[in-house]
Amino acid sequence: MKPREIKPKIYRVGALDWDRRLFDALIPLPDGTSYNSYLIQGSEKTVLIDTVDPTKETVLLENLDELGIKNIDYVVTHHAEQDHSGTLPVVLNKYPEAKVICTPKCQGMLVDLSLAPGDRIITVEDKETLSLGDKTLEFIHAPWVHWPETMLTYLREDKILFSCDFFGSHLATTDLYVSDEGQSYEAAKRYYAEIMMPFRNQIQKNLEKVKDYAIDVIAPSHGPMHDRPGFILKAYHSWAYDEPRNIVVLPYTSMHDSTRKMVDYLVGALVQRGVTVKQFDLAVTDIGKLAMSLVDAATVVIGTPTVLAGAHPNAAHAAFLANALRPNLKFVSIIGSYGWGGRTVEQLAGMISNLKVEVLEPVLCKGFPKESDFKALDNLADMIARKHKENNFI
Ligand code: FEO
Repeated sequence: MKPREIKPKIYRVGALDWDRRLFDALIPLPDGTSYNSYLIQGSEKTVLIDTVDPTKETVLLENLDELGIKNIDYVVTHHAEQDHSGTLPVVLNKYPEAKVICTPKCQGMLVDLSLAPGDRIITVEDKETLSLGDKTLEFIHAPWVHWPETMLTYLREDKILFSCDFFGSHLATTDLYVSDEGQSYEAAKRYYAEIMMPFRNQIQKNLEKVKDYAIDVIAPSHGPMHDRPGFILKAYHSWAYDEPRNIVVLPYTSMHDSTRKMVDYLVGALVQRGVTVKQFDLAVTDIGKLAMSLVDAATVVIGTPTVLAGAHPNAAHAAFLANALRPNLKFVSIIGSYGWGGRTVEQLAGMISNLKVEVLEPVLCKGFPKESDFKALDNLADMIARKHKENNFI
């Protein structure tokens, strides 16, 4: 991708990655991603905002050459993660006058993770400013979006908030700005669920922090920019603050269809009681979709057979993931079939200690479910519907 002018003397110079399908060896990227890097030419100083993933370093360097950039004064580094800072040493090598600007916490992380030269790093305090001549940058410390060292940069004269991962989305598109709000909402929610949700309280603090800035454009480090920032600010506000909704997420796995039969029955029973259900077969599901569904669900019911005296590894994976992502769940239960015994419930319950949830009476049946098991599933559906109603989850 060639450099793209955003405003006079402000360019997007990063890279699209159409074909990447996995991040962190874990997170599915159905729509690829982008590593957004921005160049700002002030009347006195030139600044690069973030770099790109090392796999795309050539794109960044060629874009800077194409713009005829002979000197960079500062590389503002919002975040030490390698998809934005992995190319920092190469950029510093090409532009020997350039200094890195980051938070104090980021300094050591850059040296550790990207082997950046520590003597070329300048740290800035929260709200500190830097004049580029006719333009002014204000650095806003924003810890835990989504690492402890993260910060944002506000370009005052142009009212652009460079937000790094905050408000980002894994989405490769030639659109500079969000054009398809439906697609962008889904991509941003998926991103929030996978990356930001564990830090919901910090997200709230950082939303408070940016709310008093006049923002025309939010320029994140992944995905298209927001020239209608209210769209993404409102979405984030909802994800970070809203009470859970009247939704049950039901990740399950089944080996011989006994657990599947229970899942099908429970889904029907919940729907009859006015509860929305999102069902995921863990053998085939996209875990990003599962993560996204956890953003606003009130309840998770894990469906698993007992295998080798415990939960199926797929179910254990789902429980581990939910525990790590710390969604705002209120209730959890477990259903499934066993052959002769085991410790499935104790095992799964022990894996979700991060979740502040009430555990509703599990329903485990021996072999294929029978009338008494379906009755127990009806009781579980009654309990879930009643709990959601009592809590005004709508
Ligand atoms: Fe896009 Fe946390 O790096």
